[in-house]
Formats: sequence, structure tokens, C-alpha cells
Amino acid sequence: MSRPIERHVFVVLGATGDLATRKLLPALYHLATSHGLDTVVLGAGTRDLGDQEFRRRSREALAAAGYEGEEAAAWCAHRLHYAPLPADGDYRSFAARLGEVEAQHSLPGNRVLYLALPPQAFPAAISGLGAAGLSHSPGWARLVVEKPFGSDLATARDLNHLAHRHFAEDQVYRIDHYLGKETVQNLLVFRFANPLFEASWNRDRIARVEITVAEDAGVGTRGRYYDGAGAVRDMLQSHLTQVLTLIAMEAPVSMAADAVRAEKVKVLHGVRPLDPAEVVLGQYQAGPVNGEALPAYRDLEGVAPDSATPTFVAATLHIDNWRWQGVPFHLRTGKALPRRLTEVTVVFRPAPVCLYHGRPDQCVGHSDVLRLNLQPDEGFRLEIEVKEPGVTSRLRTVPLSFAYADAFGEVPDAYETLLLDVVEGDQTLFVRADEVEESWSLYQPLLGAALPVHPYAAGSWGPAAACALLGEARRWSVGG
Ligand SMILES: NC(=O)c1ccc[n+]([C@@H]2O[C@H](COP(=O)([O-])OP(=O)(O)OC[C@H]3O[C@@H](n4cnc5c(N)ncnc54)[C@H](OP(=O)(O)O)[C@@H]3O)[C@@H](O)[C@H]2O)c1
Repeated sequence: MSRPIERHVFVVLGATGDLATRKLLPALYHLATSHGLDTVVLGAGTRDLGDQEFRRRSREALAAAGYEGEEAAAWCAHRLHYAPLPADGDYRSFAARLGEVEAQHSLPGNRVLYLALPPQAFPAAISGLGAAGLSHSPGWARLVVEKPFGSDLATARDLNHLAHRHFAEDQVYRIDHYLGKETVQNLLVFRFANPLFEASWNRDRIARVEITVAEDAGVGTRGRYYDGAGAVRDMLQSHLTQVLTLIAMEAPVSMAADAVRAEKVKVLHGVRPLDPAEVVLGQYQAGPVNGEALPAYRDLEGVAPDSATPTFVAATLHIDNWRWQGVPFHLRTGKALPRRLTEVTVVFRPAPVCLYHGRPDQCVGHSDVLRLNLQPDEGFRLEIEVKEPGVTSRLRTVPLSFAYADAFGEVPDAYETLLLDVVEGDQTLFVRADEVEESWSLYQPLLGAALPVHPYAAGSWGPAAACALLGEARRWSVGG
């Protein structure tokens, strides 16, 4: 549960990188100005910058995020510092610099150590911080590790071992920024604060669940990184699986971090080993997306010309527990699809007897559908049947809708939520060690397996084979 915010230093390792510049610094600034977050930032990177140059770059980063003017300039001037990271892995001089910054601001020794680094730099940074004694401090020390946490089960285990050599699990915050999204958190509120839905949230009422994370962008300039990762590692193992656990978990005994996370892990324990026949991989070819010509994945810089890295994956998962036996969970994600969208579609079972006629599809099992839209049009839509007015027994499907934007205006950025949780010491929205390993072990059989990779045209909804996963339904509720 959240605790009061204590004065602290927020160390960003990788402070000159894309994530720090576009997300972390603007989020910290906005939290400082709108929530009174009393933070001092120590940025660090491989470049030998001074405080002044780091502040100049940070002002530009804030301006690009829409925060300009004297207040932003003053925050940078008074709150930001910089220290180069040691090339030899010896963090003692860095620790000394951190101590100076704390003394300058009379801080009590509370430290966030945020690894906004390339994943291959995580181990050296964790070892260096630990060996320099930074896992123990006069106040608290919290290590934040960006995604991806490992690239398979073995590397995730190794990284957990290394982190636990220096930090206790309650000091480690593994980020999956999807969990910071307001709509993702609302999945639990939707389920557990509305008994109407929770009473129907089981195998008796639900026929299938689809989870789609579609991106209209291609891989672009990230070819070198992506070709070693692919859709299973980049999206399925993390974001989609996180959403799956929130949709399928049992009610926790409380909203305490470990109570929630324990229920999520139980879901993963219950997932049946993946059947390769229920997995479809794809890779995009050249094609137009929203009127723009996208080159084929294999033609991107940094991508091998004969690459078999999937940019699309669809998989059917089965959860062998009391609640979900017999309910397939169809997960699908891809790049270069027609639009950017994250949606959970819950398809309810049709009425057992057809009492209404008039439209051919009304007696072949039309069911109510609940669409939980996580982005970009955050909200939900329940599609139900009503009678058309007049002397007719014709039915029509109409939506009952809720849009976040209409009800609340702008929703907070996911990173703001997560950074605030870190400084408050609330781990609920962070992935626990056993959870990350359980999730990698689920997909381990797909990594390096010789499964066919179907080509699909950029701008399409992926390989046609993905529809076959739906069995008799044969059509995804999003995109067909
Ligand atoms: N960018 C995003 O939107 C995003 C989203 C989700 C997750 N992430 C994750 O966030 C992390 C950072 O991503 P990014 O896009 O910001 O990467 P990036 O733009 O390449 O920046 C990497 C940062 O790390 C520093 N760095 C590079 N190699 C290092 C090393 N060996 N030791 C210490 N520092 C090193 C760089 O410092 P110099 O500039 O001084 O070399 C730079 O500040 C990655 O784990 C990524 O997966 C990023």
C-alpha cells in the first residue's frame, strides 16, 4: 500500500537516452509541479557531460513535452545534476558523487536507482551499484529495472539471482509500463467493484476472450534491437500476458501488492503448456498502412535479409482451473497492422434457446460482447440486443458505452503513475520475480522453435492462419 512520499534522490542511469528524455524527465517534472513531488534528479550516462549541459538538454526535453518557461528552467537549474558512469564497472566514484548531491540538498539518503539502460547493460549496473554499497543507504534504496527483464527463462533467472545478490525483492521494481495505464488498472476495478460483471466472469457465461495489441507502426529504425527480440519477447511475454493475468485472476484478499501479485502468478501456473498448433507467427511484407508505404521488415536496416523474426504472433492459451476450464484466451499482437489499438474482447455465451427470429444470424447464437478498450479510445462498450421499435420482432445490437475522455478528460501518463508508486514504495503495479520467470517459462518453447513464419502484407490484420485459431468463430472481434 502507498506510504507518504519522503524526500529522495532519483538516480536515472541512462539519463541521456530516449526513454529518460521523452518519458521519465517530463513525468518527474509534472509530478513535481502538479503533485508536489520533492525530488532531486541525478542523471547518469556514458557521456562525460557536466551539470550545465545535462540541464540544457533536459530543458529541451521538457519543452518537447510541452513544458516550457521559467518554472521548467528553474526546476532544471535547481533539481538536476549529472555524473558520468564508470566504464570499468567500479561505481565508487559515482557513489561519492551521489553522496555530494545528497549533502548539497540535505537529503536523508532515500534513493531510487532507475536503470533506463540498454538491457545488456543491466547486469554490470546492478553489480556496480551493489558493490559500491548503494543497495544499502541511510534511508531506503529502490532499484527500478526497465523492460525487457531477460530475453528468455535462463537470462531472467540469472538477472533475478544477480538482483537478489544485492537487493531484497521488496527493493526491486520491474517495470512493465502497461501496468501503469489507467485503463489496465481499471480492469480490476471493473471486475471487483461491479459484482454484476464478476458474477458472469466464468466458464458458465463466457465463451472466449480475445486480447489484441495492434500497432500500426512498423519496426522503423529499431531493426537491430528488434531482430534479436521479435513479437513473442517484445510484446506477448510482457504486455499481453500482464493483461491476461488481470482478466483471469481471482479476487485478491486485499489490494496489497503481494496479495494482487500472488493471484496473478496463480493464473500463470494454471496455463496449459502451449500447443505449437495453436500458435501462428507472421512477418510483415511491404504495404501501405494508413496511406503510407511501409517497407518490408527484412528490408530494414539492422535486419538480416533472411530473418525469421516474427513481427506478429497469435496464440490460444487455456487456463486449467475451476473458473476458466474450456474458455480459450486468444492473444494477438503485431506490427504494421491497420491501426493502433489495445482491446480485450469478452464474448459471452449466447442465450440457450432462440426466441426471436427476423435476422438470419439471430438464431445461430448471437452473444453479448464486452469490449474493454485500453488504448487509444480508453473506455468500454457492452454490445447488447434490443428490439427494434414497431410491429416487428427484429433485434438490433446496440452499444452501452463509457469513454474515459468524456467522463474525466485527460488520463495520466503511465510513467507518472509508476514513478509515483516507486517513491511511495508501492509494488502492486510491478512484476514480481516469480511472475517474470513464470511468464518466460510459458513462452520458452516458442523461442527458437522451428515454427513457420507466415508473411503478411503491412496494413492487413496479419496472416490468415490466425483466424483458424478461433475454431468455429473464425473471426477475431477486432479486424476480422
Ligand atoms: N524508449 C522507450 O520508449 C522505451 C519504452 C519501454 C522500455 N524501454 C526500455 O528502457 C531502456 C532504455 O531505452 P532507451 O530507448 O532510452 O535507450 P537509448 O536511447 O539507447 O538510451 C540508453 C541510455 O543508456 C546509456 N548507456 C548505453 N550503454 C550503456 C552502458 N553500457 N552502460 C551504461 N549506460 C549506457 C546511454 O548513455 P549515453 O547516451 O551517454 O551513451 C543512454 O543514456 C531499455 O531497456 C528499453 O528496453 C524504452
